[in-house]
Amino acid sequence: MDLFEKIASNRGPLGSHSHYAHGYFTFPKLEGEIKPRMIFRGKEVLTWSLNNYLGLANHPEVRQADIDGATEYGMGLPMGARIMSGNSNLHEQLENELAEFVMKPDCLLLNFGYQGVVSIIDALVGRHDVIVYDAESHACIIDGVRLHAGKRFVYTHNDMASLEKQLERATRMTNETGGGILVITEGVFGMSGNQGDLKGVLALKEKFSFRLFVDDAHGFGTMGATGAGTGEEQGIQDGIDLYFSTFAKSMASIGAFVAGPESVIEYLRYNMRSQIFAKSLPMPLVVGALKRLELLRTKPELKDNLWTVVRALQSGLREKGFNLGTTKSPVTPVFLNGEIPDATQITFDLRENHGIFCSIVVYPVVPKGVIMLRLIPTAVHTLEDVRETITAFEAVAEKLDKGLYSKNTVSA
Ligand SMILES: Cc1ncc(COP(=O)(O)O)c(C=O)c1O
Repeated sequence: MDLFEKIASNRGPLGSHSHYAHGYFTFPKLEGEIKPRMIFRGKEVLTWSLNNYLGLANHPEVRQADIDGATEYGMGLPMGARIMSGNSNLHEQLENELAEFVMKPDCLLLNFGYQGVVSIIDALVGRHDVIVYDAESHACIIDGVRLHAGKRFVYTHNDMASLEKQLERATRMTNETGGGILVITEGVFGMSGNQGDLKGVLALKEKFSFRLFVDDAHGFGTMGATGAGTGEEQGIQDGIDLYFSTFAKSMASIGAFVAGPESVIEYLRYNMRSQIFAKSLPMPLVVGALKRLELLRTKPELKDNLWTVVRALQSGLREKGFNLGTTKSPVTPVFLNGEIPDATQITFDLRENHGIFCSIVVYPVVPKGVIMLRLIPTAVHTLEDVRETITAFEAVAEKLDKGLYSKNTVSA
């Protein structure tokens, strides 16, 4: 069969919805400055779907640093991969400051988080090694695991008995191959808001020999006393062998980093294909990241504001009887019972009649019959925003209970 003909008849799980969803449910355009109230299709909406946790995206000092970086250096500098011609003092300064912030000896900058995680996994393990990973891991972990030529075992999400069983299998395997074991999990899971049970994983180091790699994309800047992440929050930052975060969330930018022991970071610097064979992070992004990190360090009120909004939103919704699952982080999922047509109607009603813009998650990400509305609070939301949202959610839940969405009776 011709490949393009096959594509025409199978658009993929998300693409199959594009004919009605594109521009509204998928690829929506949020316009205006990044703040809680933005413009969607010409109307103002209260936005809860940006991972701008600390509100840095539109912080005046950040905006100025981005301008200054672009003015002074342009987007072209440095040219080439770090290893060839694209290194700079500022890249190294950012690495040193990030390492210090997350309390690790050394750090390596990455151009993107997704590509970075895939490539870290690829560089770390060979065919004699075994990967053991959490079942709810982000796509970048899954795709890194897919590249692995050796064995991989998945454990039930955050289930330490399941992890122990898989570590037993992995250990039997590596006893034969002479390889090592890499356990991969997340600090904060971006869908459920659960914290990875990092303490539980580390307790298993008493019985098994393995290294722990943690993707803390949602925990960096939001968790722990200083914002150093979920390891700090759980008091076990030292136990994380390799710590990763993207700049795409709390840092409101592009780029990522991995931090750990000097010898391992040095190995990654010389062996990560995504960095050796790709252009270095542009200078304005490095200058901008230095400013963002400075604000993370020097303005604890950003994280305090975030958590004030998180607590108000989560306790307010729970008081009204909403099911937020087991979140232990700013990620705020609201679980409702309903089918995909209900979900599209709810999203439409929230956006058009209540002016609330949030992300909606349906099967297969959540079980059939469950709808998840996902809210991401930020440091720049207000308690009035929270109140308005809870009132809108109550109205929506009531209509859902009465079956009004299934009857398709909601219009703008
Ligand atoms: C857990 C996790 N890891 C990695 C990534 C990818 O990071 P990036 O957007 O920098 O590619 C994301 C999403 O941004 C994420 O949520």
